[in-house]
Amino acid sequence: MLRIVVCVSGGGTNLQAIMDAERQGRITNTEMIAVISNNAKAKALERAAARNIPGIVMSPKGYPDREAFNAAFTEKMRELAPDLIVLAGFLVRIPPQMVAEFSNRIVNIHPSLIPSFCGVGYYGLKVHEKVLERGVKVTGATVHFVNEGMDEGPIIAQKAVYVEEGDTPETLQRRVMEQAEWVLLPKAIDDIANGRIAVRDGRAVSC
Ligand code: GAR
Repeated sequence: MLRIVVCVSGGGTNLQAIMDAERQGRITNTEMIAVISNNAKAKALERAAARNIPGIVMSPKGYPDREAFNAAFTEKMRELAPDLIVLAGFLVRIPPQMVAEFSNRIVNIHPSLIPSFCGVGYYGLKVHEKVLERGVKVTGATVHFVNEGMDEGPIIAQKAVYVEEGDTPETLQRRVMEQAEWVLLPKAIDDIANGRIAVRDGRAVSC
């Protein structure tokens, strides 16, 4: 049984997709032990509570500086001792010491086809605004392992989504979620939980 902690910041639709997939048997061999949010008002926490999953609030704002937050956040993760950490719309940078301690055990969902439209400043709706500004015709989502870089770790899965005439950032975000994110993330978790993904030479490979 893979023990999972999910980190969230907002709406929690990806968290919901994971919980639904667990319930429907599309993710097997996992147990969600906690949801951590940096935002006490996140709807994601309500979604977790509705399924009796403990919610924990930890925000950089609650600490004197980033180092103190990083130390406390890493310590909390050590206590929880998950086998897998899932960043499902978590908009706080993961502390370097946590990345090192949980190497190849942290996955992130990003709403673009990495390496396009990612890195510093590219998160949430902003990604879709930049996609529309640039006028690309295809976008999508990526699930990847987290390393010390920003959106740079080994790529586990990607799915392309067409941009449509008349799209707004909101309509595009919704289509990317429906067609890509809510499909890719549960599948990646199921693949990891059932030993179908490994990291070799810095790349995620099927096994
Ligand atoms: C999702 O689109 C996710 O891919 C994105 O934030 C949104 C969270 O939505 N994550 C990032 O931009 C990370 N760089 P949700 O709270 O409804 O799952």
